[in-house]
Amino acid sequence: MNLLILSCGTRDKVVQYFKESFGRDGRVICTDCSPYAPALYEADAHYIVPRITEPGYLDVIYDICKKESVTGVLSLIDPELSLIALHEEDFKALGVTVIGSSYELCERTLNKWELYCWMKAHEYPCAKTYIDIEEFKRDLELEKISFPVFVKPMKGSASIQIAKADDMGTAEFLFMHGEQMIIQEYMTGQEIGADVYIDLISREVVSIFTKKKLVMRAGETDKAISFIDERLFEQIKKFVTENGFTGQIDIDIFEQDGVYYFSEVNPRFGGGYPHAYACGADHMTLIKNNLLGVANPVAVGGYQTQKVMMKYNEIMLIDTVDAKGNV
Ligand SMILES: Nc1ncnc2c1ncn2[C@@H]1O[C@H](COP(=O)(O)OP(=O)(O)O)[C@@H](O)[C@H]1O
Ligand SMILES: [Mg+2]
Repeated sequence: MNLLILSCGTRDKVVQYFKESFGRDGRVICTDCSPYAPALYEADAHYIVPRITEPGYLDVIYDICKKESVTGVLSLIDPELSLIALHEEDFKALGVTVIGSSYELCERTLNKWELYCWMKAHEYPCAKTYIDIEEFKRDLELEKISFPVFVKPMKGSASIQIAKADDMGTAEFLFMHGEQMIIQEYMTGQEIGADVYIDLISREVVSIFTKKKLVMRAGETDKAISFIDERLFEQIKKFVTENGFTGQIDIDIFEQDGVYYFSEVNPRFGGGYPHAYACGADHMTLIKNNLLGVANPVAVGGYQTQKVMMKYNEIMLIDTVDAKGNV
């Protein structure tokens, strides 16, 4: 059993946790397009590869899969999720399991408007969203929505180009000056993050970790506190199952006046996952079991609650590297 982590970037902890959980049972191989991605140097083997948009990118990845006898592959960046999902069969032909959700679901979650339409059609509480500014203006007049509102890119990530707008001038400016923007009802409640694992064999939700976000910084949760609410677990299970997600997912939720609003899904390890692992929600072992052909029992909850996570910076020193990442 060997795992290939694509576009590992600065996600050192994720690589370290996999190594910890795999022990002597398997190797962890990482790729990135830059030799200055520190997580590369945590792995048992690493490869500098072309950018995901370059022709022939996947052939390079397939070659690594063959050379390293890879049995499972996952990516840590949004634009690559659909790509590997789309080529799931090609990976399968090489004996490699794609640890992620289907192509359709990767596309749905990448596009916040599409996810909103799905949630509305399936009657989940969610922030009212507009893709058409004229419709937004009409609803303002009809008092179906009011300021402030939140403007963000339809396919955004890492909190880039997100902003609150208190008036029409600002909302219009933000909407017109970004690429494919959406306007949302402004949510004021408690932000929550959920790290969920859906077993690749049984397709059941086997683990859920939830945290209240205390401080956000540069689009990531900087400080958070773990908690358990069975009512939220039930809603997450229903939401995840009805969508059909598989593997690791990360969900953003708002709690407002006792109602949980689903906001965003990333079908991959989120930047805040180390909090879950530190509290005992070890999803690396769940992945290891799945790669060994073993289904995991349902064990939702059971982690340490009321634990505050505080991020801090680390550095890594390496000798000069060449373009292939050879030290
Ligand atoms: N409708 C909203 N109302 C208030 N704040 C929001 C709203 N949507 C997003 N945010 C804030 O912006 C952050 C980033 O938005 P999100 O939709 O999660 O996009 P991404 O994480 O892909 O950049 C959220 O974590 C939240 O803090
Ligand atoms: Mg988010």
